[in-house]
Amino acid sequence: MTDLPEELKLVLTFFGGTGDLAKRKLYPSVFNLYKKGYLQEHFAIIGTARQEMSDKEFKDLVKDSIEDFANDFSEQEIDKFISHFYYIAHDVTNIDSYEPLKALVEDLDQKYTTDGNRIFYMSVAPRFFGMIAKSLKSEGLLSTNGYNRLMIEKPFGTSFQTAQQLQNELEEAFNDDQLYRIDHYLGKEMVQNIAAIRFGNPFFDNTWNHNYIKNIQVTLSETLGVEGRADYYDTAGALLDMIQNHTMQIIGWLAMEKPDSFSDVDIRNAKNKAFSSLRIYKGKDEVSQNFVRGQYVGRKSAELNYNQEAGVAENTQTNTFIAGKLEFNNETWKGVPFYIRSGKKLAEKTTRIDVVFKPTAFNFGGNAGLQGYPVLTIIVDPYGSIKLQLNAKAVTDNFFLRKINLDWNVSEQDKTDSPEPYERMIHDTMNGDGSNFADWNGVATSWKFIDEIVKVYDENQAPLELYKSGTMGPDASDELLEKNGDAWVLQGNHRKTIDANL
Ligand code: BG6
Repeated sequence: MTDLPEELKLVLTFFGGTGDLAKRKLYPSVFNLYKKGYLQEHFAIIGTARQEMSDKEFKDLVKDSIEDFANDFSEQEIDKFISHFYYIAHDVTNIDSYEPLKALVEDLDQKYTTDGNRIFYMSVAPRFFGMIAKSLKSEGLLSTNGYNRLMIEKPFGTSFQTAQQLQNELEEAFNDDQLYRIDHYLGKEMVQNIAAIRFGNPFFDNTWNHNYIKNIQVTLSETLGVEGRADYYDTAGALLDMIQNHTMQIIGWLAMEKPDSFSDVDIRNAKNKAFSSLRIYKGKDEVSQNFVRGQYVGRKSAELNYNQEAGVAENTQTNTFIAGKLEFNNETWKGVPFYIRSGKKLAEKTTRIDVVFKPTAFNFGGNAGLQGYPVLTIIVDPYGSIKLQLNAKAVTDNFFLRKINLDWNVSEQDKTDSPEPYERMIHDTMNGDGSNFADWNGVATSWKFIDEIVKVYDENQAPLELYKSGTMGPDASDELLEKNGDAWVLQGNHRKTIDANL
């Protein structure tokens, strides 16, 4: 008896096959799928890039990547695995170079009997996405007897208009349900846990609305700076780098109604329904009232300000921090703010969701003080955790309440067993499950929302708040909540303590 899962058959082609992402994440992920038995005999992997390289050199590159980035392997396993790898030099802009690629894909399909199943993974500069998709179709690389799926790295456009243009180009060759838009946050175990916690527990399922929830907070904070990516980052800022995609995708899981079923189609429909009621802010007043942009300055004289980083212009107006308040114009979320924030060089690296519940109306008699709002916290990174702050009785002569904490942390075993986001996403694509990918409608709404903010920022019509690196952002971020009578659950104590130590 074997407990191997059912084998998945396919030819998987990586455009950008010698790149950093392929080496760090993609090959080790495919290797894990192989070790788990999802890939057995009937699969082939093709790497393509511009440079000339022999199959042997390519196999060595893949082997190095596994040795460097995978855990727990034997030489023998790796050798058997890399025997399924092939390389072909390919210029994505040269239509003639699709013919030899086609020949190789067809050859491998025969050799490994992969039933005509094909996945093409685009880990190349975004300007090539549309061109590759169209050429795959026009040059006959799409199979007629199996499935064809396209995996697309971010960013999906840089505005609604460019995203729409890209979508149109992709749709010339693929149906929308063949497109797998990667957002690696959707592949994170604890992001996927949002649905389990919400819908798997009636006491959250039934209270997930304006009657019981005071506000929802999503924080994606980083301690890193631009790390040599200034060319890209200075054109994107936190708004495009982290808010438009990752943050908004998390918001989708939080704001959606319960889907009719847990299929990818129903999940997308439910998210889209929520996104369609997102209030879009227009003009400088609405944007400034609801969004704060910031830029870091060095905390100590030895630390650089953002505008002193290599590759960044001295007069840059790029935001390295964003805080904002979202509103959904629907019955469920009437009057409930969704606060979001993300930034570089903040006090800590964490991705977390705090759901702040309303206080009870029950009167315990006398002056029994409520100690606070119940809070559900889901920590995604750097370690998975679920925390619940509840009101309970304080040990006093009078009936007073105090806050108690229930705390669950992902175990070491869970950590070892959790697949990396990339492994999960490649696996989901092989299974044709689009639940954890960004869907076009969601992406489009997110761009429409972000474009209006960008417009105001591009014209410099909103203040750029400076914050010290190592804090939780500018004071204006705290004030954004304070004016509604709210406060960040993950407090800027950090800011205060750090500042006090200056
Ligand atoms: C990427 C951004 O999408 O996400 C980076 O481009 C950011 O700027 C990264 O550092 C954060 O990802 P994670 O998984 O480390 O939180």
